Amino acid sequence: MASYSEVTSSSTPIPEGQHLAAMLLSKGSPLTLCHRPTPIPGPNELLIAVHAVAFNPVDCYQRAYGLFISSYPAILGSDIAGVVLSAGSAVPASAPLPGTRVTAFATAFFEQGNPDYGALQTRVLVPAENAAPIPDAVSFQDAAMLPMAVSTTWAGWSTVGLPRETKYTPADKKGLLVWGGSGSVGSVAVQVARMFGFVVYATASEKNHAYVKSLGASRVFDYKNAGVVEEIVRAAKEDGLSIDVAYHATPQNFKETLDVVKALKVVETGKVAMAARMDENSPKVEGVEAKFVLNPEPLEARKEQFRFVFHDWLKGKLASGELVPSPKARVVKGGLGSANEALDELMKGGISSEKLLVEI
Ligand SMILES: NC(=O)c1ccc[n+]([C@@H]2O[C@H](COP(=O)([O-])OP(=O)(O)OC[C@H]3O[C@@H](n4cnc5c(N)ncnc54)[C@H](OP(=O)(O)O)[C@@H]3O)[C@@H](O)[C@H]2O)c1
Repeated sequence: MASYSEVTSSSTPIPEGQHLAAMLLSKGSPLTLCHRPTPIPGPNELLIAVHAVAFNPVDCYQRAYGLFISSYPAILGSDIAGVVLSAGSAVPASAPLPGTRVTAFATAFFEQGNPDYGALQTRVLVPAENAAPIPDAVSFQDAAMLPMAVSTTWAGWSTVGLPRETKYTPADKKGLLVWGGSGSVGSVAVQVARMFGFVVYATASEKNHAYVKSLGASRVFDYKNAGVVEEIVRAAKEDGLSIDVAYHATPQNFKETLDVVKALKVVETGKVAMAARMDENSPKVEGVEAKFVLNPEPLEARKEQFRFVFHDWLKGKLASGELVPSPKARVVKGGLGSANEALDELMKGGISSEKLLVEI
């Protein structure tokens, strides 16, 4: 018996014990609305009633090319906000309790598309360490933008060896560059770098400069200017800053970020956390190491990092208001039935300082 049944509309009555999902039935096909059985959380899992799902570039690649999918049908998506419905028998005491409004990182790609764990459904399982409570003042829409961006930002810091407890003062004159500071990952990286006490420099399209400054960047540069590297180096020299570390958060992998670090570092080897894909042709610059952003391995190390990020850091920074959800949420109307439309738009490119999402 198939473990799902296709439906023609999201308003088709749902049988007892099932829920609505947008499923990927085969590689490269559009998502299909289905009813499927609602799973029961394992010992360390939460079952979440999903209220909003935000989209990330990896969702497009999963739908189109089957990236990180081991079998079909699959369910895609990482970024959710909703309410905890039930918890497994062994979730840690720091995990949000049933009834709590949360933002959570669904593990669609870690679980290779396993349908119980993808975001694009009304009920989803997440590991207990992947969820953080959200204050009443933070909407589900805004909260759904956070999990991928926040976890990827922290994965970047651990990838380049920047300690969690980093704390500089202005007198230290330590700069950090975020290339792509107006995007989803970059706008969070700007905010965290500010909290570390760095003087934050960022790049963005000119129309986003004021926004990126509002998040904590002291100077923002237009990456479309031909002389942008020289401009950044000149500014840092004026400000008396060294830049040993940068976060590269744009879809393309290029050399400019490495060139800035080479010109401004005071350590022997400067570091660039590279969120964009890398291969053997990726640019290389002597004295600067670009490392692809990855969550810690093995699994226990990743779980420890996620516990720190969601149960401790994100919970605290949302409660204090030090972290603001970024960039700007844009709802694609139509709920799960509009997931294909949202993914088509994201795949086309050209979205700037916005995160697409659907409400459920
Ligand atoms: N390694 C990982 O684990 C991981 C996890 C998540 C995401 N990623 C990758 O990280 C990248 C960024 O993701 P995102 O969701 O943050 O994307 P996003 O929200 O679309 O942000 C893209 C950023 O790049 C800037 N940008 C766009 N085109 C550019 C160009 N030609 N030159 C310089 N800057 C440019 C944008 O600036 P303006 O809009 O101001 O022009 C914006 O700041 C993607 O490649 C994504 O696949 C990796």
